[in-house]
Amino acid sequence: MSESTTPTYSPGLEGVIAGESAICQVDPNAGLTYRGYDAHDLARLTSFEEVAWLLLHGELPTEAESEQIREELADERELPDQILSMLRLFPEAAHPIDAIRTGVSALGMFDPEQHDNSPAANQRKAIRLIAKIATLTTSFWRIRHGEEPYTPGNHLSYAGRFLFSLTGREPEPWRTTAFNAILVLYAEHDFNASTFAARVTASTMSDMYAALTSALGTLKGPLHGGANEDSLHVLEQIGTPDRADAWVADRLARHEKISGFGHRVYRTGDSRVPVMRDLARALAKRFGKEQTVAICEELEAVMSRRKGLCANVDLYAAPVFSMLDIPAHLNTPIFACARSAGWCAHVIEQHAHNRIIRPRSLYTGPARRPVPAR
Ligand code: COA
Repeated sequence: MSESTTPTYSPGLEGVIAGESAICQVDPNAGLTYRGYDAHDLARLTSFEEVAWLLLHGELPTEAESEQIREELADERELPDQILSMLRLFPEAAHPIDAIRTGVSALGMFDPEQHDNSPAANQRKAIRLIAKIATLTTSFWRIRHGEEPYTPGNHLSYAGRFLFSLTGREPEPWRTTAFNAILVLYAEHDFNASTFAARVTASTMSDMYAALTSALGTLKGPLHGGANEDSLHVLEQIGTPDRADAWVADRLARHEKISGFGHRVYRTGDSRVPVMRDLARALAKRFGKEQTVAICEELEAVMSRRKGLCANVDLYAAPVFSMLDIPAHLNTPIFACARSAGWCAHVIEQHAHNRIIRPRSLYTGPARRPVPAR
């Protein structure tokens, strides 16, 4: 672009194509695909490990490769003792997402390949990161609640191991299946804010740990990953479906945003909602908690009527997490564990075809002026 051309300005980069990627397609009409496969089919038919392989390598794993990545993720799950000691030093009131961001940042210094950005080293680091971010999450939670970190044997899937590590009890198969579906649905989503942050960091040829630290700082915000914790508070405050309309009216009158609604790309509906809604309905039936899902459904109707806005995946994720006995403070960290697969795939892709990401601003400050005599 010549210096005289003024680039088009798009607030929030809306509609801007900021890079090429072969990992994922978010099509506002046709839905979500990972490497060409329908993400909703993957959520039903594959394990999170297989999806991680797909995102990292471009193809679904063979049976042998599927077992290979399951084993590798299990083998890499342990944290260095110094990281566990560090987790014990954090304030009791620390939010787990901050502990995990700090933990990922610190883990980089323990990885002998931290500064090797070659594709092979990046693939190995991706496995370590995806494995260890889960252990960071469960270990910090247990330490904060006066329990010792716990990592079960290597026989489990990623989803099963996460739940076992958190509670110290082997999860029932139905619980692992539901949790696996959540991980798959959250694993990747194109140039969302946290992935873009990871790519910006990676584009300076900084390392994968630095890129994921940026991503984690970005995911935390309530307009992004933080929404899946906030959505639960929305449901708790509303309490019963008949209160949804008045509650929404009050919030909108105060120009407040309602977590779990709206999306930059999906304007007619988040394609992940039907799968998450079905999961919520199935769990509600199992536990006799249909009322929680009824609040979500009523909220959908109210928001559509009052604001023309559709639910996003975080609305139904909130009751699903809650019915799986996941503490609300872990909703966003679990999103991070799942998305670590997508983040790592994007860092690998960025490093492989790198050009530094450096946009420009539209200057709105004072015109050029002389420095006054002092
Ligand atoms: N509640 C109430 N109003 C909302 C809203 C929400 N959740 N999301 C968007 N709006 C309104 C905005 O206030 C704005 O209204 P206006 O034109 O009257 O000012 C309009 O819809 C457009 O919203 P905007 O914020 O410009 O959309 P965006 O593309 O910049 O933002 C989100 C997208 C996701 C950040 C936004 O919808 C949001 O904040 N949602 C709540 C947080 C959330 O659930 N995030 C998870 C996303 S997966």
